[in-house]
Amino acid sequence: MPRLTAPDILKMKSIGEKIAMVTAYDVAMARLLDRTGVDMVLVGDSLGMVVQGEENTLRVTLDEMAYHGRAVNRGLERAHLTIDMPFMSYQLSPTQALESAGKLVQQGRAQSVKLEGGVRSAPAIRACVDAGIPVVGHVGLTPQSVHAMGGFKVQGRDETAARRIREDALAVQEAGAFCIVFEMIPSALAAELSALLSIPTIGIGAGAGCDGQVLVCNDLLGMDERFKPRFVKRFAELAGIIEGAGRAYVAEVKGGTFPGPEHTYDTTGKVYGGGK
Ligand code: KIV
Repeated sequence: MPRLTAPDILKMKSIGEKIAMVTAYDVAMARLLDRTGVDMVLVGDSLGMVVQGEENTLRVTLDEMAYHGRAVNRGLERAHLTIDMPFMSYQLSPTQALESAGKLVQQGRAQSVKLEGGVRSAPAIRACVDAGIPVVGHVGLTPQSVHAMGGFKVQGRDETAARRIREDALAVQEAGAFCIVFEMIPSALAAELSALLSIPTIGIGAGAGCDGQVLVCNDLLGMDERFKPRFVKRFAELAGIIEGAGRAYVAEVKGGTFPGPEHTYDTTGKVYGGGK
């Protein structure tokens, strides 16, 4: 099956097909999600929080993004792979941005890269696009600016802040990005901008008026019962299921009922239960 490309994603807006994007960080999750019909898989720098246990995304490195990208790519047959440019891999100059994006394409197997910021990131976006690397923009709450924003807060609630987000979104489109993520902005603003822009908008905490939606896979699957912001819908409650399976395993090991004969080899080469 051919992989979805940046032009395929762009076209989805013109035919009115909503875009489903989800994060993944390893091959097993990528393989399962690819089968679901998801259009875009994002190796997000959210991996700093959900995989590495950090309190924000700021310590994630370019090498780590490339490493997880390679793993995720091996699990994809159809979905388009986007990889996040981590903090300080593109802020210094357009040349730095292009070098970092090139590394994510060559070593991480990215089909496109995502970077945060609007007006200020436009030269970095333009440098990548001019070199033939498709770019996804990201405005609104930009987690790499968590310290400047004073926390993970909804952005664009007053008219001045909304105007800035409008300028940022237009700058991202003007710089050549083929789609844009809106994170945690009022739904009316996201809907207005989705109508204004010709590139698809992908919302997270930005309401139903966007051209697509993205969720972190761990949130969608309910892997952490402590984390339940308003914008997350859990489509499964895996935390309880994983804990239950782990408890059953421990009980069987301690009780001596696992492994059974069907999980066991003998010296004759006979294999019980048809296993390998
Ligand atoms: O890092 C990430 O996972 C993201 C999405 C939440 C959009 O940027």
